[in-house]
Amino acid sequence: MINNETVDTILNRQTVREYKKEQISEQELETLIAAALRAPSGRNSQPCHVRFIQNAEMLREMQIDFKNIVGWDTPVHTKWETNPFYHNAPTFAVIFAQGESYMDAGIMVENICIAAESMGLATCIVGSAGALFSDKEKGEKWKTRIGINAGYKYQIGVCIGYPNEKPEMKPRFEDRISAVR
Ligand SMILES: Cc1cc2nc3c(=O)[nH]c(=O)nc-3n(C[C@H](O)[C@H](O)[C@H](O)COP(=O)(O)O)c2cc1C
Repeated sequence: MINNETVDTILNRQTVREYKKEQISEQELETLIAAALRAPSGRNSQPCHVRFIQNAEMLREMQIDFKNIVGWDTPVHTKWETNPFYHNAPTFAVIFAQGESYMDAGIMVENICIAAESMGLATCIVGSAGALFSDKEKGEKWKTRIGINAGYKYQIGVCIGYPNEKPEMKPRFEDRISAVR
């Protein structure tokens, strides 16, 4: 197998759910925005609209609404179960699109994750926040507050920040993927 910086970055990326309080730098943010913008989309339709939320008070308020809707803090039943859905990350990026563009959003979020990893930042992809943004009343309120049009649907989100833990790498079932010759 070939190892280079890009491959190593992809192979080393893992989910982190404990972050340092320190905000990511403006340069790092700019780089993540460039990586997100560069993501390909079907027919180059560019359906995804993204907000990098860096307002801790706003995220705390979102968590209160989230918990009122779903009844729990975060869906991960591990040591993180009392974490908010955004795992106290200083930056939480949310990706919206009209209708369902999960494929395009997934490609975009991985671009963000790999660019983040390459800069020493950690990430956790978050599907669960969809419960907040799809709530008729609270979801519309938050979309208005972050400048997302009413018709748009939450696709995926991602926590971003400096890591404050180094979890074990989670194994993959290797027999799922093979070449056909
Ligand atoms: C589509 C998707 C949705 C996810 N949603 C959540 C979530 O809501 N909360 C969370 O803590 N982790 C979430 N995760 C993180 C996964 O649990 C994690 O990627 C998986 O356990 C594999 O771990 P690894 O990324 O360290 O290899 C999500 C990951 C993906 C790809």
